Amino acid sequence: MWTAKLLLISVAVVGPASPGFPKVIPTVGEVWPHPQMISQGDTYMIVRPSTFKFSVTGKDCDILQEAMKRYKDIMFQSSSHLKTNPKDIWRKDEAFSGYLDTVSINLMQPCEEYPHHDMDEQYEIKIDSPDQPGEGVILAQSIWGILRGLESFSQLLVSDGSAYQAKSTQIRDFPRFPFRGFMLDTSRHYLPISKILEHLDLMAMNKFNVFHWHLVDDQSFPYESAVFPNLSKEGSYSSIHVYTEKNISDIVEYARLRGIRVLPEFDTPGHTMSWGPGQPGLLTTCYKDGEPDGTYGPIDPTNNDNYDFLTTLFTEVTDRFHDHYIHLGGDEVSFSCWQSNPNISEFMKTHNISGEYEKLESVYITKLIELVSHLPNKNGYLVWQEVFDNGIQIAADTIVHIWKSETVPAGWKKEMSKVTQAGYKTVLSSCWYLNYIRYGDDWYKYYHCDPHDFEGTDAQKQLVMGGEACMWGEYVDGTNLIPRTWPRASVVAEKLWSSAAQTNSTEKAVPRLEEHRCRLLDRGFRVEPLWPSFCMSDVDL
Ligand SMILES: *[C@@H]1O[C@H](CO)[C@@H](O)[C@H](O)[C@H]1NC(C)=O
Ligand SMILES: *[C@@H]1O[C@H](CO)[C@@H](O)[C@H](O)[C@H]1NC(C)=O
Ligand SMILES: *[C@@H]1O[C@H](CO)[C@@H](O)[C@H](O)[C@H]1NC(C)=O
Ligand SMILES: *[C@@H]1O[C@H](CO)[C@@H](O)[C@H](O)[C@H]1NC(C)=O
Ligand SMILES: *[C@@H]1O[C@H](CO)[C@@H](O)[C@H](O)[C@H]1NC(C)=O
Repeated sequence: MWTAKLLLISVAVVGPASPGFPKVIPTVGEVWPHPQMISQGDTYMIVRPSTFKFSVTGKDCDILQEAMKRYKDIMFQSSSHLKTNPKDIWRKDEAFSGYLDTVSINLMQPCEEYPHHDMDEQYEIKIDSPDQPGEGVILAQSIWGILRGLESFSQLLVSDGSAYQAKSTQIRDFPRFPFRGFMLDTSRHYLPISKILEHLDLMAMNKFNVFHWHLVDDQSFPYESAVFPNLSKEGSYSSIHVYTEKNISDIVEYARLRGIRVLPEFDTPGHTMSWGPGQPGLLTTCYKDGEPDGTYGPIDPTNNDNYDFLTTLFTEVTDRFHDHYIHLGGDEVSFSCWQSNPNISEFMKTHNISGEYEKLESVYITKLIELVSHLPNKNGYLVWQEVFDNGIQIAADTIVHIWKSETVPAGWKKEMSKVTQAGYKTVLSSCWYLNYIRYGDDWYKYYHCDPHDFEGTDAQKQLVMGGEACMWGEYVDGTNLIPRTWPRASVVAEKLWSSAAQTNSTEKAVPRLEEHRCRLLDRGFRVEPLWPSFCMSDVDL
């Protein structure tokens, strides 16, 4: 009933006479990701950009002030198209329930400075609810909940051509998983800072809360260090393909204001080719026929200077990024170079681990973990699954990041069972490698993947912190990051925020996802289409 009426108004004012035959008819004013609890009535209030304001009735802070400014812009971005409506047509409509000129923001607890692993993101929204008729309220214990609530509120507004309508609504919402991450890779290609910020905006609009930044890898070292400036001098693609201390603090600040943690990854001992030229002695010298062959392998675990180097570097890194966690990598360590090096063979003999290269890796990771847990900030850490698979001793509160796909070797479901049975926390990425693309609707499989879909007790399921979508950068730079990633990532966002029952049907998701894609496009993001269809703003792309 309601939807039909609203569509009629909108079509009459801005729409075409005939909608053609799009594959999907979008919903109108539905929130993505789906709130845990939402009920809506048949009446609506009118929001007029010229008179609307937020009013702080609880605690206040810079994050809140910035957010209110930002959301007024987001909500009324397209209001220049609104036609003034002197006749006040709504008054004649029996569903019209008054003007919503003020929305109160009621933050109960003082703001925290940085988002963190245990942050509280619950919130409530009331618009013209039975207990507060004619009013609009966003309420939360924590600033992070207020941010999520503002996003949902902004999505409830629907333009009718001369103002915005907001249905009478009650929402009680909270995330299913505390860790809802997205990984970008800035080593295979440099990503412009403006694109990273745009990506953070989109993350906030989809309620992601962890930006996992895979900063460096074999191909380039764009992180500009003050303690070891030679790393990026020798290891970046060029002197302008770097992230300076200032650039990093800007990105961390931008993310903080949106309730997004920035989790840096410095992957070792493999994936470190670009580190070598700026730090002689760090990488293992590879041998052929008894002679160095001019190539290098993973970090040399037998050189004690390397642990001092890592302590100094990671002290700087953890200081710059503020998050309690750091990602230590540990994936895909190739043993062939270690095998070729006579000094390493000698070391292994004296340690009684001849021929057991997993044990050599273990020597390295154990020392790395030891030094990281004694950094001034007492950091926690994530590691890729191989660290667990290779039987390396890890601290009890390590988060094991599962990435290998269904086919290798026993599948992520068995891996989740094993990791949680051993008592470790975990984050799942296996089914959300968005860098794999193909023709057609690849988002269905992202929506069908559920991090709790493995054999295990309730206690084991409790150890699942959430999941993370990854966009590896071999074929991605500033030209295609945003369209290739979005709205495909929105699908992962909903799986991680909304309840299992709310996300068990792709059929129900389709018209909502279509609305959400058009919404992001309306907001100025060049996000790609999902199927044959149209949005009102796609004529101006
Ligand atoms: C950086 O490299 C230059 C030569 O390339 C060297 O002279 C200098 O000592 C290095 N600095 C550090 C801190 O290692
Ligand atoms: C990155 O930081 C440098 C200074 O450290 C600054 O000159 C440059 O403008 C920054 N880039 C952006 C995009 O902010
Ligand atoms: C191997 O060890 C010897 C003596 O311990 C040392 O002189 C040499 O530099 C080392 N070579 C490499 C490649 O680490
Ligand atoms: C290695 O093994 C030998 C003989 O089994 C033993 O004498 C020695 O103490 C061991 N060394 C280490 C470092 O464990
Ligand atoms: C999906 O969830 C609904 C409850 O919201 C339930 O009735 C239905 O059986 C579920 N379907 C599947 C396939 O799990």
